[in-house]
Amino acid sequence: MSAADAIVFDGARLKLGAEQIYDSLDFTVRKGEFVCLLGPSGCGKSTALRIAGDLVPPDTGRVEVLGKAPKDAWQDIAFVFQSPRLVAWRNALSNVLLGAELRFGRAEGRKRAAKARDLLALVGLADSANKYPLMLSGGERQRVAIARALAVDPSIIMMDEPFSALDPNTRRRLRAEIVRIWQETGKTILVVTHDIDEALTLADRIVLLSKKPTRVLEIFDVKAARPRALKDDPALVAMHDRLNELFRSLEPDAPHGGMT
Ligand SMILES: Nc1ncnc2c1ncn2[C@@H]1O[C@H](COP(=O)(O)OP(=O)(O)O)[C@@H](O)[C@H]1O
Ligand SMILES: [Mg+2]
Repeated sequence: MSAADAIVFDGARLKLGAEQIYDSLDFTVRKGEFVCLLGPSGCGKSTALRIAGDLVPPDTGRVEVLGKAPKDAWQDIAFVFQSPRLVAWRNALSNVLLGAELRFGRAEGRKRAAKARDLLALVGLADSANKYPLMLSGGERQRVAIARALAVDPSIIMMDEPFSALDPNTRRRLRAEIVRIWQETGKTILVVTHDIDEALTLADRIVLLSKKPTRVLEIFDVKAARPRALKDDPALVAMHDRLNELFRSLEPDAPHGGMT
């Protein structure tokens, strides 16, 4: 562990029920870095986020978040899931405040209303603060969930397939947005995905996981400047082909082929 590390998995092994999930999971996310955890369905990507968030302990091995055990670091992390999980009877602003209210108490949370408005503006929803979830599109709801995560001012944001339920255009727009937000806020971001294009669009580094019992197959450094045009950059095309080949061997039914 170095002072520059935000998340460390060092020899983490885990069995759930009768199944060996991790053989030995080893990877690091540095402070301020944007990392994608890419791997086949069921290999334990979501479980890795749960371990870092202190919801599941590993059987053996060392997992640290900002130099601390996960149980001492949950306040440093906020989550964004595939479904935005908004409260239907709270408007967008009030949903953004909810995370802070739950974490810091109602009174303290409410003091953050001005900040919550700024965050809604940051995710492009300045004019939608009073709208209820039913009045928002899927992409807008996910933007609210991102603002809600930012509202607790976490050092680290963990996202579990955050865009996979959205239509392709919305997904592309939100990928660009999250890169911009990452650049503006300097947060450490760990995104779980099983989408190669997504990982190549977003990440500084891609951690490719194997099938169970899972270990890290390969780590890809993605140096291309952002915003990235995947098809126009030969280095990205080569990396895409290599990832696609590896991924197909892991998940034979994967719907991956050309770039989208
Ligand atoms: N509470 C649990 N008990 C037993 N097995 C579980 C539990 N949670 C997850 N699993 C299993 O662990 C594996 C990894 O799950 P998960 O982390 O959700 O995979 P991924 O997110 O990569 O698709 C899967 O095989 C899943 O069935
Ligand atoms: Mg998952």
